Amino acid sequence: MDWGMRNRIARMFPARSGNTVMLAVDHGYFMGPTRHLENAAATIGPLIPHCDALALTRGVLRTSVPAGAPIPIVLRVSGGVTILQEDLSHETLTTPMHEAVRLNACAVALSVFVGSPHEHETLASLGKLVSEGEEAGIPVMAITAVGKELEKRDARYLALACRVSAELGAHLVKTYYCDGFAKVVEACPVPLVVAGGPKLDSEEAALQLAHSAIAEGAHGVDMGRNIWQSPHPVPMLKALRAIVHDRATVLEALGIFHGEKEAIAARTAAPA
Ligand code: R5P
Repeated sequence: MDWGMRNRIARMFPARSGNTVMLAVDHGYFMGPTRHLENAAATIGPLIPHCDALALTRGVLRTSVPAGAPIPIVLRVSGGVTILQEDLSHETLTTPMHEAVRLNACAVALSVFVGSPHEHETLASLGKLVSEGEEAGIPVMAITAVGKELEKRDARYLALACRVSAELGAHLVKTYYCDGFAKVVEACPVPLVVAGGPKLDSEEAALQLAHSAIAEGAHGVDMGRNIWQSPHPVPMLKALRAIVHDRATVLEALGIFHGEKEAIAARTAAPA
């Protein structure tokens, strides 16, 4: 691996732990103005200092992230279908590698839909993107998407999808946490990060998910809705960082969450 590729990976996975807290804000590319992401700039801005990388599209990057923000960018480069369609797997490459270079991306990301009607096209896109990424020194993150079929998130399916992605050359894989996740990790020779999925009932549940994923070998999270759909996104990110970087327990992370929440409330209430 050349220096540029290693440098980009090192920037996303800081040496403090070798893990990452990526903030996923790419939902609009197929879901439109997702709740709490309607004004992307307003949501993203205050969170940038508390995450290790931002995962988003070129549209939101150009319109909603200051060019001076010192944050590695994971650029989503696939799309082409919306939630109005039954089959979400009909994706193609929507952003070329030279654009990722122009945007100074640290990595590019695309969804692969293993077992879906457009499995072949999305896997062929992954192969093409990896070849271009190797040329440019830009790592590729494959996202093992499940479309609307959330029940697909079992260890057997995810192990297959992650392994196929790594075999086709993905440098990183984003997947879901599941029962038996350690088996998914064991069968995947490149670092895995986990998505959060739809907003869970509580912050504790999301912290538990992250904790289990890290304990079973994930190299971090690429989480969105469970952070910015929480009424307390900054405390949530600080609690997640403690789990991902410092191996905090869920109880310790919850303590950080509540402490940060109270500190913010006290600052807001303090007279000027
Ligand atoms: C889908 O929109 C993207 O791949 C998201 O980045 C991914 O699902 C992670 O976000 P969340 O934690 O909200 O599931």
